[in-house]
Amino acid sequence: MIMKNIIAPSILAADFARLGEEVEQVIAAGADWVHIDVMDNHFVPNLTMGPQIVKSLVNYGIHVPIDVHLMINPVADMIKPFAEAGADYISFHVDAVEDIPATIKLIRENNCKPGVVFNPTVPLGNLAEYIDDIEMVLIMSVNAGFGGQAFMPEILEKVTAVREMITTSKKSIRLQIDGGINLATISQASTAGADTFVVGSAIFKNDNYQKIIAALRIASD
Ligand code: DX5
Ligand code: ZN
Repeated sequence: MIMKNIIAPSILAADFARLGEEVEQVIAAGADWVHIDVMDNHFVPNLTMGPQIVKSLVNYGIHVPIDVHLMINPVADMIKPFAEAGADYISFHVDAVEDIPATIKLIRENNCKPGVVFNPTVPLGNLAEYIDDIEMVLIMSVNAGFGGQAFMPEILEKVTAVREMITTSKKSIRLQIDGGINLATISQASTAGADTFVVGSAIFKNDNYQKIIAALRIASD
């Protein structure tokens, strides 16, 4: 099955004082999704945003898929608020929950698409057993917590292993990569099997969103 590559700007690197405008501009410049990094100063040592940011973006008129990356523990209580705010995808770190299948089910019951996330040192474990129940696997290419970190090429083996599992499953499951993605690293990620690319600094620190998104897309093909 051929699936279009997705470019998902991470708003963590945007100017928060002009958030609606920033998101509108990256979408006009060709971005496919918006990636929302939710951090709780507990699962990761940083604190960012909650469901009200998602709600505000929807109210502002943002209609592309909203991809929520939860870096929080506990997870369960925050699923409904993000779903009601307008999230489309909700992804959680497998090591932040006690019951992976129950968390997947809860996300589905809230009419969102479930994703599971693996930090660089977290093994894939029994992913093959539940991969048919999810819509996305996110392989972190930095340790979750901060934007602007350097890409870790050692995680590419994990991307390839997940690509094989997705091929075996025959389902249209997205394979996302997040952290240090730029013009140099996106092609390595794509070659390893990723099809959905989170990009923070490389887009928002560039002064021409259209040019950088177009170049990233070409480099990812
Ligand atoms: C890191 C976040 C990423 C990050 C990406 O914990 O999950 O989404 O903001 O930013 P860059 O592209 O700057 O690495
Ligand atoms: Zn993220």
